[in-house]
Amino acid sequence: MPNADHEYRLYGDLADWWPLISPPREYAEEAAYLTGVLSSRSPVCVNEVLDLGSGGGHVAMHLKDKFMLTLVDISDDMLAVSRRLNPECRHLRGDMRTIRLARTFDAVLVHDAIDYITTQDDLARVIATAFNHCRPGGTALFVPDYVKDGFRELAGSGGGGTDGTGRHATFRERTWDPDPTDDWVRADYEFILRQADGSVEVIRESHRLGAFSRDVWQRLLTSAGFVPGTGSAGSVPGADPAGRALPGRPPANMFLVHRPP
Ligand SMILES: C[S@@+](CC[C@H](N)C(=O)[O-])C[C@H]1O[C@@H](n2cnc3c(N)ncnc32)[C@H](O)[C@@H]1O
Repeated sequence: MPNADHEYRLYGDLADWWPLISPPREYAEEAAYLTGVLSSRSPVCVNEVLDLGSGGGHVAMHLKDKFMLTLVDISDDMLAVSRRLNPECRHLRGDMRTIRLARTFDAVLVHDAIDYITTQDDLARVIATAFNHCRPGGTALFVPDYVKDGFRELAGSGGGGTDGTGRHATFRERTWDPDPTDDWVRADYEFILRQADGSVEVIRESHRLGAFSRDVWQRLLTSAGFVPGTGSAGSVPGADPAGRALPGRPPANMFLVHRPP
């Protein structure tokens, strides 16, 4: 299992398969929810959004009609995939722990890429990046797939996309916790990649994914200077402040915070 997040083959030489392994349409419902949250739960009107760890731009493609997006990822291969899908968005190569763009945005989104942060020091660095790029009164949204509290082993499968050339991909996964005393879990993936000529390659890769406790999240967010919004304890709001149901599907976990005005 590589130590550096960006060394995973999935985001390197396999990046071209990303739209088939994790098809963009699967992000639509959650992106609709995030759009609803950003539009209704921000103290300031959200127009410009920084997406840290934007990957293949599958979330972005569902947000770009509503917001002006700047997309940052550490992987040139994933940025290339996203540029094809989202040519109208600004793309930048950078590490969410260290990038500094010398400007702020109305909101900063760190979606599932936050999973690749596996130490508290690095989580603090990402939160500092978000704070640094969040305008006063702006919003930051962190959407980790896993938190330590109540983590349960998961086995599943997915993918199933086919592209114009006839390539097809599916995957199986098992996510489990080798050591509940630390801050990460392990996802064992099996990618089944079928080329247009029918030949099949099976690639196995294990990823280390962060699973921090809610207490750790809250402590680090507060230390960075953020103040909680609804959902900051990981409880995901189902309605806007007026009590109207939010659209789409809420993520499993979400930390919603604001930079003080
Ligand atoms: C699961 S993918 C994100 C998929 C994305 N949500 C989408 O809509 O396509 C995780 C991404 O995190 C990126 N990543 C991992 N560590 C990173 C870091 N330190 N800084 C920036 N990007 C990172 C990887 O290169 C990969 O593209």
